[in-house]
Amino acid sequence: MKISLPAQSPMLSKDFIYGVATASFQIEGSADTRLPSIWDTFCATPGKIRDNSDGKQACEHVKLWQQDVDLIESLGVDAYRLSISWPRVMHKDGSLNQQGVNFYIQLLDALIAKGIKPFVTLYHWDLPQHIEDDGGWLNRETAYLFEDYAKKIVQALGDRVYSYATFNEPFCSAFLGYEVGIHAPGKAKVSYGRQAAHHILLAHGLAMQALQQYSPNSLNGIVLNFTPCYANANNAEDRNAAELADQYHNQWYIKPLFDKCYPDIIDKLADDEKPQVEAGDFDIIAQPIDFLGINFYTRAVYTTSENEFFQQVDMVDAPKTDIGWEIYPQAFTDLLTSLNEKYSLPPIFITENGAAMADKLENNQVSDIDRIEYYHSHLNAVNNAISSGVTVAGYFAWSLMDNFEWAEGYLKRFGIVYVDYQTQQRTVKASGLAYRDLINARS
Ligand code: NOJ
Repeated sequence: MKISLPAQSPMLSKDFIYGVATASFQIEGSADTRLPSIWDTFCATPGKIRDNSDGKQACEHVKLWQQDVDLIESLGVDAYRLSISWPRVMHKDGSLNQQGVNFYIQLLDALIAKGIKPFVTLYHWDLPQHIEDDGGWLNRETAYLFEDYAKKIVQALGDRVYSYATFNEPFCSAFLGYEVGIHAPGKAKVSYGRQAAHHILLAHGLAMQALQQYSPNSLNGIVLNFTPCYANANNAEDRNAAELADQYHNQWYIKPLFDKCYPDIIDKLADDEKPQVEAGDFDIIAQPIDFLGINFYTRAVYTTSENEFFQQVDMVDAPKTDIGWEIYPQAFTDLLTSLNEKYSLPPIFITENGAAMADKLENNQVSDIDRIEYYHSHLNAVNNAISSGVTVAGYFAWSLMDNFEWAEGYLKRFGIVYVDYQTQQRTVKASGLAYRDLINARS
């Protein structure tokens, strides 16, 4: 089984960037050499993480980073997407922690020496706990603390970074973290979710200004996740439910960036559920961005509900990955083409796409044919979107290696490299080899 693309695909040109992605909390370990983050606290709260695990060791990347850079190189990728751990690079008083900064400097230098472009995300969910203690993303001040962190770290890293993303998936931080509470910090109220989202978007806008000032030569943008919404039955009620779900879960995070407002569903919220927006906020939020990062995994299907605006329907008989997400690549094409119609977008990078599968390590091999099929169908879905006029400049597999999958702990494996957490042995899976072969087949 191979990952292949039509012979004429622009994704087979050397200009198309292929990469692999990770995030700090999910791989780094060495929690004792940084400040505590909200995920440390969440992991220590009984019942929050399915296997009661935490990020103290994870993939021991802080210790094993040199061999991990060799591993990345062995996959033949053009780029590596990583995130900076805010609690590793800043002291409580807001000054830089030089030891933490040096970790990233040596990592970036090693990548650059191998010709691998660093794509750096400034926030992949690991808020310093002391900032959460002061209200976290419910406190407007956190947006200004983030701007300060962005200014300092960007200047410290100099010209090493090819691309900066301010935030990874604000939906997850705001909705999962503050509205339904299944992610850190585990708060659960509609008004919290909406307010956290607003402050994160504000922080994005403030940090974008800093990035354009202090790092004008990098590609600067944001990474958003989308779960396209479909109607269960093809009738007006279900179509309306899907439209409302799309506004609430997807458009809420992109519309302010381009149209300087929230989607219409905001008018259906009670006054005390609406975010507090100050004059001028949308002008800050809607900074020009050099690229939009899109993370895609699955779709969701909706019907009407008596008490809510919409209700998700489980596609019982549909093919699913090991984490229970439906495999539906057409939604990827539909998403890219519809965003392209709705907004005047900068070039898109697919900053994450991939699948959790029930991998088995046997004779030092993982024959993850199911994951190869997932990559094949989803890369072709991206190609179809490009054929209909969408500008996509690159694609990152999630993930370089198996890692801490948030509330699922280590139970779900998304890597194209297998990790034995006892020995920290890495084994490239069949999907990793297939991905490398696709990348090498370019001309
Ligand atoms: C989105 C997140 O950015 C990443 O951290 C997570 O592991 C993957 N999706 C899979 O859930």
